[in-house]
Amino acid sequence: MEKQKVKSLFESVFKKEGILFFAPGRINLIGEHTDYNGGHVFPCAISLGTYGVASLREDDQVRFYSENFPDKGIISCTVNELDYRKKDDWANYPKGVIRYLKDSGYAINQGMDILFYGNLPNGAGLSSSASIEMLTGVIVKDLFQLEVSRLELIKLGQKVENAFIGVNSGIMDQFAVGMGKKDHAILLDCQTLDYELVPLELQAHKIVIMNTNKRRELADSKYNERRQECEEAVKILNQALSIQALGELTNEEFTSHAEQLPPLMRKRAKHAVSENIRTLEAAAALKQGKLAAFGKLMNESHESLRDDYEVTGVELDILVETAWQLPGVVGARMTGAGFGGCAIAIVEDAHIDTFIQQVGQRYQEKIGYAADFYIADISDGATILEEDET
Ligand code: GLA
Repeated sequence: MEKQKVKSLFESVFKKEGILFFAPGRINLIGEHTDYNGGHVFPCAISLGTYGVASLREDDQVRFYSENFPDKGIISCTVNELDYRKKDDWANYPKGVIRYLKDSGYAINQGMDILFYGNLPNGAGLSSSASIEMLTGVIVKDLFQLEVSRLELIKLGQKVENAFIGVNSGIMDQFAVGMGKKDHAILLDCQTLDYELVPLELQAHKIVIMNTNKRRELADSKYNERRQECEEAVKILNQALSIQALGELTNEEFTSHAEQLPPLMRKRAKHAVSENIRTLEAAAALKQGKLAAFGKLMNESHESLRDDYEVTGVELDILVETAWQLPGVVGARMTGAGFGGCAIAIVEDAHIDTFIQQVGQRYQEKIGYAADFYIADISDGATILEEDET
């Protein structure tokens, strides 16, 4: 349905036919703010994401159109002028990807038309930007038949965030969107980039995504600030230890050196270290079918993000703390960067309707506007879709 719609849209905007692609969004089950600390993350790709339709042009014009931002119209540049331009707004994400592919030496000497349509809520922390980046990566790889690996596209997507857009994010989002596999979570070591796909066997439970509908204003500056606090902590701890990142420490190693850090920095570092250990424990629990243990670790993760890392906020706390009290809930926590955005809960099938009704009602009462709920369908990573697929 949606696939046909985006193909027809492409035809009406660009007056020709194109090839259809899709890139998912992601949720993170556990392992938050650990990627840039050299720790582990445990995300999965979801079936909500971004569709793209694309075709090559004969000239050097690159034209982008997003059905999510129709008032911006067609945004264009040439293959030889792919600099960041504020007025290009959302199109800076795909521009950045093409730019860095070219800078890496890939032969992109011809223009293209690309239409985007995403069904991920914007700014909700489900990685709509990584979805656009990875989508652009697979599109350009296909259009120009580039010999570029998936991992290279992932790293390039992160570079777009860091160097082109200016958010110092880690590699989790692009990795999850690029490497996702249906009904699996990805246990990724962000230091080595070794990863393992773990079957997501939820035993008659589903993952419910809870959207605060609070946009993450100021999120980026706070995000960079947390990252800086952790980097400072590494420098200080390095007077006694020899580490590159907080993710290398056990809880015991950290505790025995923690007093070297000023109080606020100590809290931030404590989260980074303990969250990494929790993530490893949670992945092990899931592999052994210990869902209750997994849920408990999710809850502890949220507490640590709330009390030590301080990235939750009242909206996420209301959703998660209400979820904790309801029957059929195995665990709940915020997901993504925080400061608004989404939380997730693992809920027994039979309780999902009442869960959504009760969390929704309490959120409305306390916050004054509605939350949204979606059932997560765990899906594959960014890909070309067959043209005859419906
Ligand atoms: C954002 C970033 C990721 C990661 C998470 C927090 O989603 O893009 O790299 O740091 O926040 O875990």
